[in-house]
Amino acid sequence: MAKIDLEDVSLRFGATTAVDAVSLAIPSGAFFALLGPSGCGKTSLLRLLAGLERPSAGRIAIGGRTVADGSTFVDPGARGLGMVFQSYALWPHMTVAGNVAFGLKMQRLPAAERDRRVQEALAVVGLGHLAARKPHELSGGQRQRVALARSLAVRPALILLDEPLANLDAHLRQSMLAEFRRIHAETGATFVFVTHDQNEAMAVATHVGVMNAGRMEQMDTPDALFDRPATPMVARFVGHGRTLAVDVADGLTRLPRARLRLPGMVDHGPAWLCLRPRDLALADDGAITGRVVGRRMENGMHMLSVLPDDLGDTPLDVAHDQAVPVGTQVALAIRSAWLLPREGDPLPRTAEALPA
Ligand SMILES: Nc1ncnc2c1ncn2[C@@H]1O[C@H](COP(=O)(O)OP(=O)(O)O)[C@@H](O)[C@H]1O
Ligand SMILES: [Mg+2]
Repeated sequence: MAKIDLEDVSLRFGATTAVDAVSLAIPSGAFFALLGPSGCGKTSLLRLLAGLERPSAGRIAIGGRTVADGSTFVDPGARGLGMVFQSYALWPHMTVAGNVAFGLKMQRLPAAERDRRVQEALAVVGLGHLAARKPHELSGGQRQRVALARSLAVRPALILLDEPLANLDAHLRQSMLAEFRRIHAETGATFVFVTHDQNEAMAVATHVGVMNAGRMEQMDTPDALFDRPATPMVARFVGHGRTLAVDVADGLTRLPRARLRLPGMVDHGPAWLCLRPRDLALADDGAITGRVVGRRMENGMHMLSVLPDDLGDTPLDVAHDQAVPVGTQVALAIRSAWLLPREGDPLPRTAEALPA
């Protein structure tokens, strides 16, 4: 069992606060993706879990055992976890099989069992045929898979992965994501997977934590992050959403051509209207009017960029099945939406535990 609990954990480097009072509870067996823009503190949070950094404040528990707080610090080797980091950190003089066996030697397994685990771990990452090679005889992607096999071979209850697919091509990344899902299901281990790529996060995770500037903005299921973003940052970051400044009066959102009752967290007052391409459709009687200011192809659809009338200067993306020339005046119907308060912080920023 490897549930993870963080209470008000901070990590400061001089004047930089890399992790800022993060509290969260990750259920045992979750596939947790830590998502956020570059520099938001993802690697720092992972290094805190691994025991490669000591928190400046707060408490970390793994499997119910405190591993770091003001008076306790458990070394990385005693935390029962496997790590796969951006740098492969393979032993250059050892073969692939030797690298994968390395962690197992500490466990003093019988040689036959060790060899079996090495073969199994290499088969999982598709490198069984390269067991005798040295790291310099491998591509970057293959080295990363050796690093993953090495961490899987010891069968830890918790696996920490820091952008493990960053150096793989798109095709290989897809098949590795599927492998991760399968390995996660088979092992029952808790996975913490750091990525700046939301498609990766949404593809594999049961739970996603969105970080921004050292803070945890929201921890939720992938669906809920799309459907019910808790903060404007999450609304903008996930699914390339746009936020328009609107006013709500008595439950009705004022738009240029209509007053609409829309779902969200605002009944009255200034609000952000959060919209994604799939929330909008061209329709003659649409509530928003605007002008097409750009277009591009995306996944076989025409993605139109529409500058709305009287709603600020943020263009909206709308997927459409036909080309529409730039300069065309159009109307947009709102099929779905989400309202967030525009003043103050809409929600406490501390993520709450989710049911497993
Ligand atoms: N060892 C360090 N010394 C000083 N600043 C650091 C150190 N490690 C990370 N930082 C800073 O902490 C912030 C978060 O970094 P990091 O956790 O690597 O972000 P991410 O992994 O999300 O890209 C950044 O501003 C980074 O420059
Ligand atoms: Mg990083």
